[in-house]
Amino acid sequence: MATFLIKGGRLLEGEIEVRGSKNAALPLLAASLLFDKNPEIKNVPQIEDIFRMKELVLGVKESEKIDTEIAKKIRASILLVGPTLARFGRAVFPHPGGCVIGARPIDVFLSGWQAMGAEYAYSGKTAHGTDIHSLKAPNGLSGCDFTFRALSVTGTEGLMMTAVLAKGKTILRNAALEPEVARLAEFLNKNGAKISGAGTTTVIIEGRGVELLRAGGGAFCIPPDRIEAGTLAILGALAAKKLVIRNFPGEELVALLAVLKDVGVEYEITPPNPPVFFPSLALERPRSWIGRAVNIKTKEYPGFPTDLQAPFAVLATQASGASMIHETIFEGRLNYMEDLNKMGARIILCDPHRAIVNGPTVLHARTLESPDIRAGLALIMAALIAEGESQIGNIYQVDRGYEKIDERLRAIGADIKRI
Ligand code: EPU
Repeated sequence: MATFLIKGGRLLEGEIEVRGSKNAALPLLAASLLFDKNPEIKNVPQIEDIFRMKELVLGVKESEKIDTEIAKKIRASILLVGPTLARFGRAVFPHPGGCVIGARPIDVFLSGWQAMGAEYAYSGKTAHGTDIHSLKAPNGLSGCDFTFRALSVTGTEGLMMTAVLAKGKTILRNAALEPEVARLAEFLNKNGAKISGAGTTTVIIEGRGVELLRAGGGAFCIPPDRIEAGTLAILGALAAKKLVIRNFPGEELVALLAVLKDVGVEYEITPPNPPVFFPSLALERPRSWIGRAVNIKTKEYPGFPTDLQAPFAVLATQASGASMIHETIFEGRLNYMEDLNKMGARIILCDPHRAIVNGPTVLHARTLESPDIRAGLALIMAALIAEGESQIGNIYQVDRGYEKIDERLRAIGADIKRI
């Protein structure tokens, strides 16, 4: 298992390009099960979660089965269930695991598939205690009018994909607004699906019955990763003398940009200029800069993303005053703050959803383990501004979501080594 050795205190400078979006690419790969042959997808990030998803998709194509060992480790494996069920009339799958950020239930998925006519059965536990679920729809699925009890990004994507191969019309209400939902619909529509309203609260899908989509719409390019982009912007505010972030999807990051402005970060956005299709963001950190404390509350899109909450907490350690962080989406997503405190941060955990970060504080190097994708990168960011040499272990977690992050950070001046 890899570890990063990081010497803190170096000012970063240069240009960095945002890679393709993990959470846009994962559902597209799962959706390839709805096609007669592999659709062409470009700009897929080379990261561990994508490698696992490709293995899973290949496994389903070869054996009509979802591999339990891989699927139980990544939450996004739930995205395969709908397409597998719609295509083969059955799906057996482990309760998806993944990040240690909360309970991650699948109740809304199950209600949705049942509303489409699937029969659900709990199939017991594996020898290692993983719950196994099974669904069957031997006579195919039917369109339905379904309202999400709780907003769910992969829930919306999963049911939208399933509905493409159901008979008749499906209406999904209280659907997630995240841009990845609209991207998935665009991709499917490009290849013959009929989906309208994706990216709004009501999505309508005209099902095709069991007729597979024909991969003929040409290559689909995955957009830049809004979470990676936002994280790099926060890193720039923390540690860059001057940083230019290319492929910066600013329109998808309005809540973060508003917060950065309130903290006192100065940035400039250059609009796209074809053949460059995305803006870039330039940041300059004034000497001995200290930000202003700002309160944040994570929210569904277009609110402040939960996936940027941990990077923001590192920024808050460098701001003057008390910043309240309210994590409203997941209940286990503040645990990494104890590690920041070990580095010298002054964070009070009020309850599983709320914390107060008192700043500014000088951070000190420590040996720590990456708990999950996003908190892992936040610890790396803290190490980059800390005094001394840190070791951040369990880097597989970070490699799940960020392509060759060590090489790319080194290219802008970070002192970071993989051992
Ligand atoms: N929820 C339920 N029942 C369900 C499903 C979800 O109660 O059946 C609850 C969850 O417990 C949570 C809330 O609904 O409290 C929102 O969860 P959601 O289902 O929207 O999350 P997700 O689809 O599993 C995606 C991203 C996450 C991101 C969240 C929130 C992918 C592959 N994952 O997860 O990304 O944090 O939306 O925006 O798109 C990451 O990339 O590191 C990551 C965790």
